[in-house]
Amino acid sequence: MAGKQYVWMDGKFVDSGKATVNVLTHSLQYGSGIFEGVRCYSTNKGSAIFRLGDHVERLFNTAKIHSMPLPYSKEEIVSAVVGTVRKNGIKDGYIRPFAFYNDTHIGLSTSGKKVGVAIAAIPFGNYFSNKDKGIRCKISSWHRINSQILPPMAKASGNYLNSIIASTEAKSSGADEAIMLSSSGYVAEGTGENIFLVKSSRLITPSDSSDILKGITRDSIIKIAEAMGIGVEEREVHREELFTSDELFFVGTAAEVTPILTVDNIRIGSGGIGPMTKSLAERYSGAVHGEEEAYVSWLTYV
Ligand SMILES: Cc1ncc(COP(=O)(O)O)c(C=O)c1O
Repeated sequence: MAGKQYVWMDGKFVDSGKATVNVLTHSLQYGSGIFEGVRCYSTNKGSAIFRLGDHVERLFNTAKIHSMPLPYSKEEIVSAVVGTVRKNGIKDGYIRPFAFYNDTHIGLSTSGKKVGVAIAAIPFGNYFSNKDKGIRCKISSWHRINSQILPPMAKASGNYLNSIIASTEAKSSGADEAIMLSSSGYVAEGTGENIFLVKSSRLITPSDSSDILKGITRDSIIKIAEAMGIGVEEREVHREELFTSDELFFVGTAAEVTPILTVDNIRIGSGGIGPMTKSLAERYSGAVHGEEEAYVSWLTYV
């Protein structure tokens, strides 16, 4: 039987079943929470959290964008995350720091309202069940939110309704995941992943101007690729470039490196997992598991 699970809630560990809120909670009703998704991995020196400082930095940037006053320092959140992984004895897992308006008033105003922080850590494997074989994607009829509507660079709960509607559409048409276009019609990203194309042995990924969330995995893959001598272009990507790419893959904390086999039923490259996808996935896996000396500074050992 699985052991007890604990959630760090406003400075204390509570049984996960007791980490509850009132149904009228502002962030539950209006999607006004902000969060991070972080992974930890088993290494030969115990469990290690991947790029924790960068995730906490992004959480604080999201809070700033949405004028949410976080009641803890970055250092306190870092040590609470480490403590939560340790307390739950997680080896390979997913960590969810979440900050939210823990207040039951009905109005939209957030001013002066209590900000609560909760951190959960659970064992976690592949996000896509067929990750290792590759997945099928559909270009969504729903476009990615943009900075004139909701800031896509913030990792805020409400943004994910945009992701959920796109993912639901893709799944109902038999695909595994959606690819969303930016408001200008360029390729943006998946519903919870950034995307890379391989063309003529170079890597291409949508740039900031494509309404993306700037993923920490995206940054890791760019750095790993550059260290391998692979040229990387960050630029606007036309939808049709997806079809003519040699390889295509998603990256993200949850998705890790997930090969894409088809887009709108069009086969990408030769149809299997391409050699560059494979070598980047292997190098990334080595980095997160503490097997790559060059990247151990990305790990926080628990
Ligand atoms: C919309 C979106 N894009 C990209 C990503 C990948 O970001 P990261 O690599 O930091 O997990 C995520 C996941 O957080 C996401 O939700």
